[in-house]
Amino acid sequence: MLFLFFDSPIHSPRSMTDRTDKPWAGRFSEPTDAFVEAFTASVNFDRRLAPEDIEGSIAHARMLHRIGVLNEAELGAILDGLQALRGEIEHGAFPWSVALEDVHMNIEARLVERIGEAGKKLHTGRSRNDQVATDLRLYLRRQIDAVCAEIRRLQWGLLELAEREADTIMPGFTHLQVAQPVTFGHHMMAWFEMLDRDHERLVDCRRRVNVCPLGSAALAGTTYPIDRHYTAAELGFDRPSRNSLDAVSDRDFAIEFAAAAALLMMHLSRFAEELVLWMSAPFGFVRLPDRFCTGSSIMPQKKNPDVPELVRGKAGRAYGNLIALLTLMKSQPLAYNKDNQEDKEPLFDTVDTLRGCLRAFADMMPAVTVDRERMYAAAAQGFSTATDLADYLVRKGVAFRDAHEVVGKAVALAEATGRRLDELGLDELRGLSRHIGEDVYETLTLEGSVAARNHWGATAPEQVRAQIAAARRRLQRVERPPGGP
Ligand code: ARG
Repeated sequence: MLFLFFDSPIHSPRSMTDRTDKPWAGRFSEPTDAFVEAFTASVNFDRRLAPEDIEGSIAHARMLHRIGVLNEAELGAILDGLQALRGEIEHGAFPWSVALEDVHMNIEARLVERIGEAGKKLHTGRSRNDQVATDLRLYLRRQIDAVCAEIRRLQWGLLELAEREADTIMPGFTHLQVAQPVTFGHHMMAWFEMLDRDHERLVDCRRRVNVCPLGSAALAGTTYPIDRHYTAAELGFDRPSRNSLDAVSDRDFAIEFAAAAALLMMHLSRFAEELVLWMSAPFGFVRLPDRFCTGSSIMPQKKNPDVPELVRGKAGRAYGNLIALLTLMKSQPLAYNKDNQEDKEPLFDTVDTLRGCLRAFADMMPAVTVDRERMYAAAAQGFSTATDLADYLVRKGVAFRDAHEVVGKAVALAEATGRRLDELGLDELRGLSRHIGEDVYETLTLEGSVAARNHWGATAPEQVRAQIAAARRRLQRVERPPGGP
């Protein structure tokens, strides 16, 4: 739907002489310079806001009728006209004109063209300044809802995968060196938690997005007895904004969204990086079906993880867009300035980036398969149960610092002789500490190691299953899974 707008041709201003009269041309004595016209126009990108612009105009027209500015017939004509424009836009038949600068003036001019006099009354008591702020908030609210739904879809995928692999053992890393064994389910639930906070941030941001600037007019409000509470309610906003100067000029809500998006993309880039590593031959932990990969034009054997790589790279866009928005607002005096027109492209790009990356990940998750043997073998390397041996000694009454020393020697011995810790003989181990007994071998196994970390938030399969169940209940309490249980 969204992308439809890009398919309809932008009409050259010069070929549309009947539609080039600018609504604000009254006080001007010469036409706009052709380059300036193109330079200042935003219709090439802001026509994406057409659905919201029409929505806002419908609410505004209803309000004008309520307060007696429009009569019944005029309201009817405006509503029918706007409905028709909606159809034209959806079918790519709308005659967009650069000469008409932006989405707002294009729609208004086209309305007048279609319905005549009544159309000229629509702009009573409003300005493009409150109009664009309203459109942007309507747009962002809708996009936040779509992004949140996609986060949830990805989270449901992670829950499935975590459940399937709750017992699967993999190496846990610090410094990308094997540290301690963990369960794959636990690792997936780490991603689940990060996404949960991302979701929360967006829901919180939505509360501040969902405020209606309409009626602030150019900057000071209007002389008509408008009913701002009515318009706000019509558009599903929580309330009208409280200060007209603030409402037409600030874009902090968009910056907040861009910040939440940048964080989300940071998370996805970490996730992506792990997938890239795990899919490489030296790791070989996971596989992705061919449909998510591409080949090399020169090396026939290659199967590249392009999707995660691209997601990793696209984080840069989200960061850049955040900085662009922050910078365009910086030092702006009140109230509206044309600088604000520059808010749209970064915002749209962030929305597209986010939705694309989330969609790719959500689609990919159910298709991920893991190589349990490879992960197990990798976890068995790097003396990953060394901490367990130290904890064992502490349980036998040795102070932790002394235990640490003993285990350090055991690791050195194993390393020097090319063995794992559980391959050291009982005599050898007892030679390092007389507290070590036959039962030490249980603690040195990977299964024993993960099962022993059996408390809230830890990696034991039992705990992971409990977290998965709790997460399912949490998600179900507020939303139903997409076609899920
Ligand atoms: N295209 C403009 C924007 O996106 C709409 C508001 C224009 N207002 C004005 N006073 N020129 O910001």
